[in-house]
Amino acid sequence: MDYIKLNETMEFSRIIQGFWRLTDWEFTTDRLIAFMEGCLERGVTTFDTAEVYGDTECESQLGKAFQKRPDIRERIQLVSKTGIYKARIGDKTFGYYNTTYDRLMQSCKEALQRLHCEYLDLYLIHREDPCLNPYETARALKDMKKQGLIKEAGVSNFDPFKFEALNHAMDGTLLTNQIEWNPVCFEHFNSGMMDMLTKEKIHPMIWSPLAGGRLFTSKEPVYVKALSKIREIAVRHGVEPETIVYAWILYHPAGALPISGSNKPKRLDRAVKALDVRLEHHEWYEIYAASGQQTIR
Ligand SMILES: NC(=O)c1ccc[n+]([C@@H]2O[C@H](COP(=O)([O-])OP(=O)(O)OC[C@H]3O[C@@H](n4cnc5c(N)ncnc54)[C@H](OP(=O)(O)O)[C@@H]3O)[C@@H](O)[C@H]2O)c1
Repeated sequence: MDYIKLNETMEFSRIIQGFWRLTDWEFTTDRLIAFMEGCLERGVTTFDTAEVYGDTECESQLGKAFQKRPDIRERIQLVSKTGIYKARIGDKTFGYYNTTYDRLMQSCKEALQRLHCEYLDLYLIHREDPCLNPYETARALKDMKKQGLIKEAGVSNFDPFKFEALNHAMDGTLLTNQIEWNPVCFEHFNSGMMDMLTKEKIHPMIWSPLAGGRLFTSKEPVYVKALSKIREIAVRHGVEPETIVYAWILYHPAGALPISGSNKPKRLDRAVKALDVRLEHHEWYEIYAASGQQTIR
């Protein structure tokens, strides 16, 4: 496993394990502990979750595992996210964001209780709240750091404008932007976010590197075209197609950290294997253009 320094004190494994789908896995606490141990055996020491996953249930299930095995918590870097809520309006629920000081402080303390942890290594604002006051949000994140509730702060799904605004209010200390990127999703290339992160030497965390599995299951033309090219390149390198997708993400100069969302150790192995694969420079562009969404002029 490779490890990447995100600042002077924080180091993450290059491949991260995500737990968004944990509540679908129907794992007992013991099975979850065994799964976590499997991650650690592979050198995957960074775990990603969020308040909103399973309506807080994901953090609770992880917390039960950490309560039983506090030694595992000590060996990992734990990332969670906040800022997405649901209001009950009559018989319907309505999703919205809240990045105000009081709500963030309350959410962080509640997350730590659920997770049975004293601190988070990294706490992210989950989505780019259109009503975000960067100075107020920064005050909350700074106070959490001062109080030892979190070690570092960052964001997820932010565009360059909102990232710059909050990073300014945070005195340039935002650790990362966790963003979606895979062979059929180029939002953050088209927004200039990837260029900004590369320039600032801020390593992005990458969610849904396999497009949530749709890369392998969807019959939509963009997925079919992308997968056909990925399979062709996988044959050239004698590895599984998943490995090529991870190698493609790792190749970029931004130094991205992909988050694997599978609950299958063999699929995590295929992600880790990408650290040994070096794509030809032109192969990066073959995948970039494969879905037909990005043009090489
Ligand atoms: N910041 C955000 O807004 C945000 C949003 C979404 C996710 N995330 C984070 O990113 C992590 C990863 O996201 P993700 O789960 O979407 O990642 P992903 O690795 O792209 O997708 C994982 C899904 O793909 C399936 N899959 C993998 N390989 C497959 C194959 N060859 N054929 C068919 N299905 C396959 C997996 O099924 P199996 O389990 O059966 O292998 C799993 O359901 C999440 O856990 C979460 O921590 C963050």
